Amino acid sequence: MHLGTILLSVCSIGVLAYAQSTQGLYNLVKRRLSNHANHFDFTIDKSCCAGIDGYDRFMVSNGPNNTISIKGTSISALSSGLRRYLTDIAHVDIYWFIGSRLEQAPAILPSLNQPIQGSSTVRWRYHFNTVTFSYTTAFWSWKDWETQLDWMALHGVNLPLAWVGQEKILVEVFQELGLTDAEIASYLSGPAFQAWNRFGNIQGSWGGDLPRTWIDQQFALQMKILPRMVELGMTPVLPAFTGFVPMNTTRALPDAQIVRGSQWAGFPPQYSNDSYLEPFDANFAKIQSSFIIKQRAAYGSISNIYTLDQYNENSPYSGDLDYLRNVTYYTWQSLKQADPGAVWMMQGWLFYAQASFWTEERIQAFLSGIEKNDDMLILDLFSESAPQWRRTNSYYGKPWIWCQVHDYGGNMGLYGQLRNVTVNATEARAESPSLVGYGLTMEGQEGNEIMYTTLLDQAWSEAPLDTKKYFHNWVRSRYSGCGTLPVELYEAWDLLRTSVYDNTNTSVTSVIKSAFEIRPGLNNVRIGFQASVPTYNTSQVVQSWEKLYKAAKEEPRLWASPPYQHDMVDLTRQVIVNAFIPIYHTLISTWNTSSAVADSHALTRESDKLLQLLTDLDAVLLTNRNFRLSTWIESARSWAHSDEDFEAFLEYNARNQITLWGPDGEIADYASKQWGGLVSTYYVPRWRIFCKYLQSVSPASYNSTEVERLLIKFEKKWQTETWNDTMESRGKTKSLQAIIDDVQARWPTVFGRC
Ligand SMILES: *[C@@H]1O[C@H](CO)[C@@H](O)[C@H](O)[C@H]1NC(C)=O
Ligand SMILES: *[C@@H]1O[C@H](CO)[C@@H](O)[C@H](O)[C@H]1NC(C)=O
Ligand SMILES: *[C@@H]1O[C@H](CO)[C@@H](O)[C@H](O)[C@H]1NC(C)=O
Ligand SMILES: *[C@@H]1O[C@H](CO)[C@@H](O)[C@H](O)[C@H]1NC(C)=O
Ligand SMILES: *[C@@H]1O[C@H](CO)[C@@H](O)[C@H](O)[C@H]1NC(C)=O
Ligand SMILES: *[C@@H]1O[C@H](CO)[C@@H](O)[C@H](O)[C@H]1NC(C)=O
Ligand SMILES: *[C@@H]1O[C@H](CO)[C@@H](O)[C@H](O)[C@H]1NC(C)=O
Ligand SMILES: *[C@@H]1O[C@H](CO)[C@@H](O)[C@H](O)[C@H]1NC(C)=O
Ligand SMILES: *[C@@H]1O[C@H](CO)[C@@H](O)[C@H](O)[C@H]1NC(C)=O
Ligand SMILES: *[C@@H]1O[C@H](CO)[C@@H](O)[C@H](O)[C@H]1NC(C)=O
Ligand SMILES: *[C@@H]1O[C@H](CO)[C@@H](O)[C@H](O)[C@H]1NC(C)=O
Repeated sequence: MHLGTILLSVCSIGVLAYAQSTQGLYNLVKRRLSNHANHFDFTIDKSCCAGIDGYDRFMVSNGPNNTISIKGTSISALSSGLRRYLTDIAHVDIYWFIGSRLEQAPAILPSLNQPIQGSSTVRWRYHFNTVTFSYTTAFWSWKDWETQLDWMALHGVNLPLAWVGQEKILVEVFQELGLTDAEIASYLSGPAFQAWNRFGNIQGSWGGDLPRTWIDQQFALQMKILPRMVELGMTPVLPAFTGFVPMNTTRALPDAQIVRGSQWAGFPPQYSNDSYLEPFDANFAKIQSSFIIKQRAAYGSISNIYTLDQYNENSPYSGDLDYLRNVTYYTWQSLKQADPGAVWMMQGWLFYAQASFWTEERIQAFLSGIEKNDDMLILDLFSESAPQWRRTNSYYGKPWIWCQVHDYGGNMGLYGQLRNVTVNATEARAESPSLVGYGLTMEGQEGNEIMYTTLLDQAWSEAPLDTKKYFHNWVRSRYSGCGTLPVELYEAWDLLRTSVYDNTNTSVTSVIKSAFEIRPGLNNVRIGFQASVPTYNTSQVVQSWEKLYKAAKEEPRLWASPPYQHDMVDLTRQVIVNAFIPIYHTLISTWNTSSAVADSHALTRESDKLLQLLTDLDAVLLTNRNFRLSTWIESARSWAHSDEDFEAFLEYNARNQITLWGPDGEIADYASKQWGGLVSTYYVPRWRIFCKYLQSVSPASYNSTEVERLLIKFEKKWQTETWNDTMESRGKTKSLQAIIDDVQARWPTVFGRC
């Protein structure tokens, strides 16, 4: 029952002994390459291989009897060596969404002409933003996690955030303080919003209290995740007590120094302004110890690195330098008392997001509270666009990790800053002596996977990667199993490399969503944060689409290949959403330049066109489970095991996050998605309401408050609906190929056909 005890007993012979077993790698091979279970040999050899001393190194060579022998300095070095062999020699890989394609490896493993050597250029390769656990993994099953963890191991990740199910321990700690179940329940947030509760942006749960069952289930999931991480050579970053407490802690600890934190994103005080126990209050260290002791009893001594964010989009109670230094000093002391080896990991996001508050002087005071530099690890969260390490003089010597955010809210859109991720990441390593790692901190783990593998692979290269070659190799592995790949596949991806993935426009620093996902109005085309207008040459994307399409004419087996199906849907999606903007502009200008009454035909024609485009987009998306709303909703509902009330609560959470995001649309459309079923049941009706409204008013009497009122009425109703299969039956009756042919016949200009 208690995996923690098992781990503990194994660990009693030493944590390192446990972490040094290669059994986890043999298990991985058995899971993903069962035909080759006996064909790999893994050996840990601390003194193996050329490269940088103290960093992970590996060597792959031919072993006896057609086996492949991998030697390396650590488990993570070995798994990185394994993937290098699999991608470069066997030409297979493992992917988000699509899953493992490793079983496509040749029946007889190809031998090497010469050994492959690898040497990491950094100590840590980090994975996860705090909010990825809500935007992406909120409803994941153990099976989803297994794929993810194998992906991470093979990509060399050795430092993942691991804070699933922490509410179990937190609740025990709160109970110990004498808080009642009702008081604790009023603090915890819903299954789709736990990340923001964990660092004190929000409290409480709209749509019903968080059920105890959920807390227990998530804890049980964590009890599977952690041993697997350790077995795969990763050091999990574990939660710690942050200081955020239920409001009624003032009742249980009447003398404690508790302040109300700031409001977040317009949420009312009932759901925000979280109570915060000041770290210099004596209760803080006691609670910290209680939390960490309980956690260690449950999980074993598997890590000394703790995630702890107190001011992530929260303003400190005071900007006084002494105060800021006290906060970190006492927080640090509380960690060290609970675990003398503790290292405090913090997201550096605040220094960017609230840059006007966080002056250099304040940052320096704040960081100085941690008196030993090596007791801290900072994630420079948005290094590809808004690095903070320069202005803070490398965080005044604290170790830090160069991270790529790339995606906000799990938004969808082809996008990347390839040169930054290769060139700037390399430059930073040379420039900053306290850079200790590279990391992925996407808010949502959505598309554009190549942008993430690029950074993780950059961690094994002294020079910036040659992206042309990198993309070529990516294509070769990605579509393996389809014979000789048509040259158009390589050309298609190279066109993406030099367009969508080569953004250097400083006004658009993350994934570009589409104008149709924003609540309809007169200004849906935006630049800046969460922009909705492409900055690249959109013709290049159409050209890339044509090449991808043509490739399957030459090699029809591609239509049956899951990666091809995924990419075809993804690229078709992008072509269609890029075509939305001119149609939207025409709609608005038609309405604006003619009397709606006099020229109702023209307006109806433009409205129909816009709605038809979205309807066609929906049909394309529905062909693939990775692009369906039902995948998200079903995974949420599955945690309820047919308890109807719990199912409805989970579905409400799932729907609310991707649409209204808050009880009343506090950050509506922030986490919008281009999903089949969502386009047809949410976006199309919104645009229909809007188009109908335009037909009823002249430009002079347009009333944006009225438009919003009409839309919110619909949006709120949608939150509480129940999913059923009829919404996506269309996508299941026709093949992707047939649907693409229909759609491009209807939109010849969009697809470059005339
Ligand atoms: C190679 O394979 C043969 C036949 O399966 C076996 O007898 C032999 O022991 C193997 N040699 C090594 C070094 O594993
Ligand atoms: C908080 O405590 C007050 C009494 O001090 C009580 O009336 C109230 O119900 C408590 N709140 C919750 C959520 O239990
Ligand atoms: C919530 O925080 C805001 C500042 O962000 C403040 O103005 C407001 O008074 C706070 N409300 C409560 C109830 O603490
Ligand atoms: C900081 O802590 C010290 C004691 O360690 C205390 O004397 C001082 O008043 C505190 N400063 C602030 C601004 O809280
Ligand atoms: C990336 O490097 C280029 C060239 O050195 C530099 O101009 C640019 O400011 C850097 N960008 C970031 C985000 O650091
Ligand atoms: C990196 O990104 C920044 C900010 O978006 C941009 O100014 C710079 O040109 C980029 N550098 C490279 C090498 O692409
Ligand atoms: C960035 O892209 C936007 C939208 O296409 C464009 O208006 C703007 O001029 C571009 N900025 C730069 C610096 O190229
Ligand atoms: C955009 O891409 C197309 C297709 O590759 C090309 O013909 C055209 O010249 C490009 N336009 C610009 C402005 O670069
Ligand atoms: C409508 O046309 C007027 C006059 O040309 C212009 O000022 C206004 O910005 C237009 N409104 C929209 C929403 O396009
Ligand atoms: C705009 O609509 C709102 C809400 O429907 C209404 O209260 C308001 O009076 C309207 N404004 C005008 C100028 O008609
Ligand atoms: C399924 O959902 C659709 C669209 O919301 C609705 O019209 C239909 O009545 C529902 N069917 C059932 C059986 O609930």
